[in-house]
Amino acid sequence: MSEPIVTIRNLTKFFPGIKALDNVHLNIREGQVHALIGENGAGKSTLVKILTGVYFPTGGEITMEGKPIHFKNALDSQDAGIVAIHQEASMFLELSVAENIFMGHHLRNERTKKINWKKMKEETEKLLKRLELSISPDTLVKNLSVAQRHMVEIAKALSLNAKVVIMDEPTSALTSREVEDLYRIVRQLKSEGKAIIFISHKFEEIFEICDYFTVLRDGQYINEGYLKDVTTDDIVKMMIGRSIEHMYPQRTPSSGKEVLKVEHLSQLGAFSDISFSLHEGEILGFFGLVGAGRSEVVRTIFGIDRKSGGEVYLDGSLFNPRHPSDAMARGIALVPEDRQQQGVILEMSISDNITLPLLDSLCTRGFTNRKKEKEVARNFGEKMEIKAAGYEVDADTLSGGNQQKVVLAKWIASGPRILILDEPTKGIDVATKAAVHEFVAQAAKDGLCVILVSSELPEILGMSDKVAVMHEGELTALFDRSELDSEKIMRCALGEYKEIVNG
Ligand SMILES: Nc1ncnc2c1ncn2[C@@H]1O[C@H](COP(=O)(O)OP(=O)(O)OP(=O)(O)O)[C@@H](O)[C@H]1O
Ligand SMILES: [Mg+2]
Repeated sequence: MSEPIVTIRNLTKFFPGIKALDNVHLNIREGQVHALIGENGAGKSTLVKILTGVYFPTGGEITMEGKPIHFKNALDSQDAGIVAIHQEASMFLELSVAENIFMGHHLRNERTKKINWKKMKEETEKLLKRLELSISPDTLVKNLSVAQRHMVEIAKALSLNAKVVIMDEPTSALTSREVEDLYRIVRQLKSEGKAIIFISHKFEEIFEICDYFTVLRDGQYINEGYLKDVTTDDIVKMMIGRSIEHMYPQRTPSSGKEVLKVEHLSQLGAFSDISFSLHEGEILGFFGLVGAGRSEVVRTIFGIDRKSGGEVYLDGSLFNPRHPSDAMARGIALVPEDRQQQGVILEMSISDNITLPLLDSLCTRGFTNRKKEKEVARNFGEKMEIKAAGYEVDADTLSGGNQQKVVLAKWIASGPRILILDEPTKGIDVATKAAVHEFVAQAAKDGLCVILVSSELPEILGMSDKVAVMHEGELTALFDRSELDSEKIMRCALGEYKEIVNG
């Protein structure tokens, strides 16, 4: 085996009340894709942030090409050849692709020292071409899709001649075609001899694209090895110290009276003619590729977006929400896909986040019942296995997956009758995923109606009583549990095949 380009020994990082990293070892090699694996809060992103000079370690050693390194800031690590594509992309939205790529290392005219825009554009074009991307250097980043933004960050890594490229959950917002693009680029970087660190909660992805793994648990180093020598179950055991029996709950669905009926619902430019119904105790899976219009449909039912046609009926009468508060007042809850933008208030405590939709009921004569509030937060926090130093800490100190759990807990604690979940297990580790599934199944058993929007077919198949499939804003199929067939569902999602639909 070749000498590692980066070696990490006994690395620790303490935050108040939390050992985010506790004695971690990692060897990063050229031409190798290295999976960094662990539950939510295991310390993966913290390690990335240390490697990229965002955090300073509490202890331990990092050497690069044999020399000890001490990055003081992000620029130091960039200069040394380490570049990261973060879990939550951080780019300058109002600037162009070329400006973003050369931010911090603008190309200048040798003589006049003026910024050489022409050269930067040309170089950007070359980089984009090398990655086989059809993006123009002049496009403003705000007009790019999430996938394209990731690709631009990769182009930036190339422009810096990075030796180590780190990808922290790069695929969580990508369509399957975009994921293929990303794989192609990862393979290309690998063949160019780059060392790649790849973080993901999706095992198929890890086994597809990575060569080697290191597992962390509670901030500690657990094991490392070649992926070809292990199974998914081996990895799960290393991650959580046990196997998972059931990823999906055993259910005997029984549905009650009709609660929600959607007829010919349309929104110009987003979706059209969507019809389905939802009964007490039912889980309706909403499948489609990213961008099929599923989120827009549920946002309309929840009163965030306006419909342009069709009707929604709630308990048999017309329901036309003007605002989410109208929907909430009728017992509808929506757990949004984008946890950072719409879900969690980062500068508020975990406890306050969870009890936010409940404030009215926790108030007596204008005073919030703090004790009750804490109780509720603890109860739901434990159900969702939120990992934090305490429920009073701000949400922005939580790991990505744990922020997602706060959002789930918040809406479930509000005691809805109709629970709409948009990609609820995105970025959530395997053990918590199983817990979320169990929780949702139990809620349905208690009579709750659930709409589960998911791009993960196994999740749809494992959880749903019936499945609606969308393709480019259209409903292409509505299947009963007895008719569920993964190939058929996939073909309907790709728009290759349509079932006759009568809402
Ligand atoms: N700035 C901070 N202040 C306090 N605690 C922090 C801070 N950043 C991270 N932590 C804590 O460190 C631990 C590790 O978090 P980290 O973000 O590294 O997890 P992760 O493995 O990336 O998880 P995920 O899969 O959810 O993204 C968590 O318990 C988190 O709450
Ligand atoms: Mg993370």
